[in-house]
Amino acid sequence: MNTILAPLVRGLCINASGTPRIVIAGTPGPVSQNALVIDLESAYKLSGEESGAGERFDEEAAAKALSEAYAAWEFEMSPSAADRSQMIKKQPSCIVLNRGSETLGVFWIDRDIDAARKRRESLDDSFIEEIIPPARDTETVPPALTAAGRTGVVKNRTAVVTGGAQGFGEQISLGLAASGALVFIADINQKGAEALAKKINAAQGRTAAIAVASDVTREDSVEAMFAAIAEQAGGVDLCISNAGVLQAGSVMEQELKSFRFTTQVNYEGYFIIAKFAGRLLRLQHLTAQEWKTDIIQINSKSGLEGSNKNGAYAGGKFGGIGLTESFALELIEYNIKVNSICPGNFFDGPLWADPEKGLFVQYLAAGKVAGARTVADVKSYYENKVPMRRGCEGPDVMRAIYYIVEQEYETGQAVPVTGGQVMLH
Ligand SMILES: NC(=O)c1ccc[n+]([C@@H]2O[C@H](COP(=O)([O-])OP(=O)(O)OC[C@H]3O[C@@H](n4cnc5c(N)ncnc54)[C@H](O)[C@@H]3O)[C@@H](O)[C@H]2O)c1
Repeated sequence: MNTILAPLVRGLCINASGTPRIVIAGTPGPVSQNALVIDLESAYKLSGEESGAGERFDEEAAAKALSEAYAAWEFEMSPSAADRSQMIKKQPSCIVLNRGSETLGVFWIDRDIDAARKRRESLDDSFIEEIIPPARDTETVPPALTAAGRTGVVKNRTAVVTGGAQGFGEQISLGLAASGALVFIADINQKGAEALAKKINAAQGRTAAIAVASDVTREDSVEAMFAAIAEQAGGVDLCISNAGVLQAGSVMEQELKSFRFTTQVNYEGYFIIAKFAGRLLRLQHLTAQEWKTDIIQINSKSGLEGSNKNGAYAGGKFGGIGLTESFALELIEYNIKVNSICPGNFFDGPLWADPEKGLFVQYLAAGKVAGARTVADVKSYYENKVPMRRGCEGPDVMRAIYYIVEQEYETGQAVPVTGGQVMLH
C-alpha cells in the first residue's frame, strides 16, 4: 500500500511547496496535533457492477481526497494574506492516512533524506516553514531569462540511475550527487553499487546515494526496485535508464543467444524501466499536476547511425529512440518528459579501456585497426574519427542531463553528445 500512498503524498507536498520533497514511510503510532490526518474512505470503491464484487482502491479518488484535505488544512494554517511580506508558509512534516479507525500509512516529510529520517526517528512533527518570496515581476523579467546555473536544476531532486555502478552510470551518479540530488544507484552488480554509494556519501557528507539491487531485464526486479524507492523517498523526479551491454558480431556469425542478450538489456530493459517509472510518476502527478518529471534513456551515437558488425547493439539503440518518441507521446499527459541522450564513445570508461576485456585490447588482438601495434594506437585511431578529437566523458553527458531537466518545452528527442561525430539530418 505504501508503494501507492507514498508517491501520492510526495506529489501533494511538492505541489504545496513547489520544490522536491522526500517522503518516507513510518510505522503507525501516536501522533501529535501537528500531523495532518486524512481519511481516505472515499477512495474505496466497489469494483464491477455485480453485487458482491470486491472493493478496489481508486487512486484518482484518493488524490482528490488528499488535495481537498490539504487545501482545507492550508487555509486554516495560513496567516492573513494581507501581510505577504511577513508570510511564512507552514507545511506538515507528518501526514497520516486513515480509513476510519484503521491507519493505512504514516509518512514523514522533509527537504532531504537525512532530515526526514531524523524526524521519523524522533517523531518530530514540527512544521516545515518557508518564507514566501515576494511575487516575481514576470512582466519585466520573464522566468526563462533567469534560467541559468544548470547544476542547480537537480538540487534536492531524487533520481534513479540504472547500471549506476560503473562507466557512464557511475559518472552520472557522481555528477547528480555533487549537484545536490539524492541518487538511487540501481545495478545488477549490487556490491559495486553499494561501494559507490558509500564513496559518494563520504565525499558529500550526507546521504546523497543509496544502492538498490535491480536487473532491468526482469519485471519483478524492477517493480521491487521502484517499490523500495517509494518506501524510502516517496518517489523520483528523474529516472535515468542507462544500463546497457555490448556484444558485437557479424550478422553472418553472431549467435542468436548473443543477439538476444544485447537486445534484452538495451531494448527490453528500457521498456521495463519506463513501464514501472511511468506508473510511479503518474501517481505523483495525480497530486502534483504542474510538476514536471523526466525519464532519460542513455542511448548511443549507434542509435543514430549503423555500427559495423554491431547490429544487435545499433538495432536496439535505434529501437530505443522509437520507444522514447512513443513513450513521450503517451506520458506527457502526466507531465513526464521522455528523452534520449546519444553519447559518443567513452574511451576512458571500462567498456573501452578495461585492460583485460576492454574494446581497445579486443580490437588490437583482432587486428581491426590496420597497422595498430599498441592499445594507444587503437585509441588514437578512434579519437581521430571525432571532429573534436576526444572521447565522450561524464561531464559531457551531465550537461545534456541538466539541459533536458531544465528545458520544460521539449520531449521525445534524441540529444547527440558526440563531439561532432554524428550530425542530425
Ligand atoms: N561506453 C561507451 O563508449 C558508450 C557510448 C555510448 C553509449 N553508451 C551507453 O551508455 C550506457 C552505459 O554504458 P557503459 O559503457 O558505461 O557500460 P559499463 O559496462 O561500463 O557499465 C554498465 C553497467 O550496467 C550494469 N548492468 C548490466 N546489465 C544490467 C542489468 N540487466 N540490470 C541492471 N544493471 C545492469 C553493469 O553491472 C554495469 O555496472 C549503455 O546504455 C551504453 O549503451 C556507452
